[in-house]
Amino acid sequence: MHVAVTGGSGFIGSHVVDHLLRAGHTVCVLDLKPPHRNDVDWRANDLRTPEEALEATRGCDAIMHLAAMANVNDVAAAPYESAELNLGATAALLDAARRHGISHFVFASTVWVYEASDDIHVDETTPLRPDGAKHLYTAEKIAGELLVNAYSQLFDLPVTVLRYGIPYGPRMREQLVIPIFIKKALHGEPLTISGDGKQYRNFIYVEDLADAHVRVLDRHATGTFNLEGPKEVAIIEVAEAINARIAGNGGIQRMEARAGDYQGRVVSRTHAKDVLDWEPATGFESGLDSTLDWFIKQWAPQPQPA
Ligand SMILES: NC(=O)c1ccc[n+]([C@@H]2O[C@H](COP(=O)([O-])OP(=O)(O)OC[C@H]3O[C@@H](n4cnc5c(N)ncnc54)[C@H](O)[C@@H]3O)[C@@H](O)[C@H]2O)c1
Repeated sequence: MHVAVTGGSGFIGSHVVDHLLRAGHTVCVLDLKPPHRNDVDWRANDLRTPEEALEATRGCDAIMHLAAMANVNDVAAAPYESAELNLGATAALLDAARRHGISHFVFASTVWVYEASDDIHVDETTPLRPDGAKHLYTAEKIAGELLVNAYSQLFDLPVTVLRYGIPYGPRMREQLVIPIFIKKALHGEPLTISGDGKQYRNFIYVEDLADAHVRVLDRHATGTFNLEGPKEVAIIEVAEAINARIAGNGGIQRMEARAGDYQGRVVSRTHAKDVLDWEPATGFESGLDSTLDWFIKQWAPQPQPA
């Protein structure tokens, strides 16, 4: 299949591109930034504009839509611009998909949408309260899901919503907890955690996420799927694992607990297992090793020309 990957030059999209190519698909990267490899077609259209979204997706069989303002702090700092991208580009691409008769539209969402539910144990059938989103980013993802599903109903467009867990791995943003800890440990600085550090995250290795996209396409699987990580990892465990690997001698520094730290949900992966035969293949320890190796190489001083 010829697959358009929007945001294909970003963190997750770049891995999706790698996995699609490995599986024998051809790929077109739709992104304002150049892709991380030069053996793919690249179209630098601004996807917020309907005409550009239409032009960029010409000749494609499927669209994987990952382009977004993905950093919640950026969203809070530029609320209107975030809606223009996170909603506007989604609407523009859905309309392009309808007009081109695209056979499959895949939308990148997040398990953060479950903050709009009252339940702790959640799956794809868990209702989300209309007044439940606590952040604009979550509201935009829920609204994006609504648009995608309404297009499917109204125009018979095959769609899939993928709710990602908290991704990590090579090429991730440096402002997130894992790279921040790695950098501090490499500099011999203490790793700071708030409270007792027992607040947990369910990290998903980015290659496992990318693998799920190929499965969705190959099985033509429609509907909504949670792509959650293999296990809960407490922030204190992340800090200890990184210090142990780097022999970071700065230790761990505790700060006062932050109010309103993300209250984790227990997110079911059963549907993805049943339909996609997908489960995260990478344990946190080995994913952390690969991430660490990548950042160490990335930050190593570049040899100067003689
Ligand atoms: N990273 C996470 O923690 C996370 C978690 C859950 C879901 N998601 C979702 O996964 C998707 C990918 O996230 P990511 O972390 O890889 O983001 P990223 O910021 O690394 O990549 C987004 C890409 O979109 C491109 N882009 C931005 N505006 C554009 C425009 N107008 N036209 C064309 N391209 C444009 C950017 O150049 C960038 O390469 C997003 O939809 C995000 O909301 C991310």
